[in-house]
Amino acid sequence: MTVAIVGGTGPQGSGIGLRLALAGEHVILGSRDAQRAEEEAKRLTAEHAPTGKLDGASNVDAIAAADTVILAVPYAGHEELVRGLADALTGKLVVSCVNPLAFGKGGPIGMQIPDLSAAEEAARLLPGSTLTGAFHHLSAVNLHNLDHDLRHEDVLVCGDDVEAKSEVIRLAALVTGGRGIDAGALRLARHLEPFTAVLISVNKRYRAHSSVALTDIPESGENK
Ligand SMILES: NC(=O)c1ccc[n+]([C@@H]2O[C@H](COP(=O)([O-])OP(=O)(O)OC[C@H]3O[C@@H](n4cnc5c(N)ncnc54)[C@H](OP(=O)(O)O)[C@@H]3O)[C@@H](O)[C@H]2O)c1
Repeated sequence: MTVAIVGGTGPQGSGIGLRLALAGEHVILGSRDAQRAEEEAKRLTAEHAPTGKLDGASNVDAIAAADTVILAVPYAGHEELVRGLADALTGKLVVSCVNPLAFGKGGPIGMQIPDLSAAEEAARLLPGSTLTGAFHHLSAVNLHNLDHDLRHEDVLVCGDDVEAKSEVIRLAALVTGGRGIDAGALRLARHLEPFTAVLISVNKRYRAHSSVALTDIPESGENK
């Protein structure tokens, strides 16, 4: 299985990609500029020698070679970018970690957008793809700090396709060494995405890189 990361030259995409490659996955960092992605993949490979292969390519070439595609781009420009990649993304499992946030005098806040979440916007623009949302709450700083143990951080995964969610839950466990949690339907991305504003606010107050951990989830995954 190959995972492509659109926007894989940014801190979030490269951090997720690095952790996946360290766990043995084949990852292709994507970029609007193939050379930039190749350089980032070479840099991370030289620095961390992951067991999985870490390559770089244009966004379109990365998607073509992958089964699963993580969207790790800023919300500004998201609609145009996703629309432009719709053909390439047809038939793929797409994971959005995009958080539409605004920053003002009162601090960070979730943006009110027409589709209510970036993941649902992507689902509207990508009728031929299977959409999920995940990795919204992992800090890029923690992802790149390999001394930072991510096992206690839960990755909340939302989506309407059960098989797609299980694959993303598998990837989440590879990224953190901990667990991915089935958080429910794709529309719950409306709540997952803006919650990141709360984490950023907490981070500022406590000079931290906070994340999410849920309590009382049975290990078996069965209902109590
Ligand atoms: N940073 C975090 O800690 C964090 C945590 C959780 C979730 N997230 C979410 O993850 C996403 C990526 O975060 P980030 O901090 O890595 O973002 P970023 O550095 O601003 O952007 C990531 C990459 O996206 C590409 N990009 C930038 N503007 C674009 C545009 N208008 N159209 C297409 N591609 C564009 C760039 O790659 P190329 O120029 O190489 O194409 C850039 O390196 C965001 O939606 C963010 O909310 C971030």
